[in-house]
Amino acid sequence: MSKPLMGKVALVTGGSRGLGAATVRLLAEQGADVAFTYVSSEKQAQAVIDEVHGKGAKAVAFKSDQADTSRAPALIDDVVAHFGGLDILVNNAAISVAGTVDDPDADTAALDRMHATNYLGVIAVIRAASRVLRAGGRIITVSSGLGSRVGAPGLADYAATKSGIERYTMGVARDLGPRNITANVVEAGLMEGGMQPPDPETLKALLSSLSLQRMGHPDEIAAAIAFLASPAASYVTGAVLDAHGGYNA
Ligand SMILES: NC(=O)c1ccc[n+]([C@@H]2O[C@H](COP(=O)([O-])OP(=O)(O)OC[C@H]3O[C@@H](n4cnc5c(N)ncnc54)[C@H](OP(=O)(O)O)[C@@H]3O)[C@@H](O)[C@H]2O)c1
Repeated sequence: MSKPLMGKVALVTGGSRGLGAATVRLLAEQGADVAFTYVSSEKQAQAVIDEVHGKGAKAVAFKSDQADTSRAPALIDDVVAHFGGLDILVNNAAISVAGTVDDPDADTAALDRMHATNYLGVIAVIRAASRVLRAGGRIITVSSGLGSRVGAPGLADYAATKSGIERYTMGVARDLGPRNITANVVEAGLMEGGMQPPDPETLKALLSSLSLQRMGHPDEIAAAIAFLASPAASYVTGAVLDAHGGYNA
C-alpha cells in the first residue's frame, strides 16, 4: 500500500472500537503516526495499538473523556508531546441515546451526556487542536446521515448533535482556510459492529430507506476519512462526503 500520510501525525477520537479503530488502522497503514482516545475500553485500545505496532507503524492511546470539555487542551498537549505535532484530527468519538421527545421516562441525564460528548466535546477538541494544527492540516468530523435528515422517530437528540457539529465544521473551514487547513464532514451510515443500533423496527425502516439497502462496514467509512486526510483532497474543504449507502439519494 502507498503511504500518502508518511510524516503526518493524526488524532482519532474514540479509536478503541468500531469506525474509530478502523480509521486508526488505515491512517497508520498509510504512514501516519496515530494517537487516539477512548474512555473506558482500555483492553480494546491496547489491542488496536498492538495491531498497529505489529505492522511496523506507530500508535498511542490516551484515556480522555470527551464529555469533559476541560480535558481537551491537555489531550492535544499530550499528542504534541508524544509525536511532536498534529496534522490530522478525526472527530469520531460519540455515543447514541435514542428516545422520543415526549417520552415521560426519558433518561435526560444520558441525553445530556450525549449532547456533551457529541457536540460540546467535539467543539472543545477542535478549539484546542486549532492552536497547534500545522499548515496543510485536516479536520474531519464524523457525522451521520441523520445530521442532514432524521428519517425515523426517536432520534431527535442524536440528530441534533450531528447537525450541530456539521455546521460547526463548516465554520471551522472558514476560520482555518487561510492557514491552509481544511475541515470536512463524513456522514457515516449504519455500520456493522458499531454503536448500538436503533430498535429492530427503526433499523428495518432505516435500511429500507438506503439505496444500497445494507449496513456499511467500518472500513468503507474509514476509506472516505482517509481520502479527506490525504494530499488528494487538498482543495476540498467545507464539504460533506456521504458514506451512508445512499440515504439521501
Ligand atoms: N454505528 C453506526 O451505525 C453509525 C452510523 C452513523 C454514524 N456513526 C458515527 O460514527 C462514529 C463512530 O461510531 P461507532 O459505531 O464506531 O461507535 P462505537 O463502536 O460505539 O465506538 C465509539 C468510540 O468512541 C469512544 N467514546 C465514546 N464516548 C466517549 C467519550 N466520552 N470520550 C472519549 N471517547 C468516547 C469509545 O470509547 P470506549 O471504547 O472507551 O467506550 C469508542 O472508541 C460516531 O461519531 C457515530 O456517531 C455511527
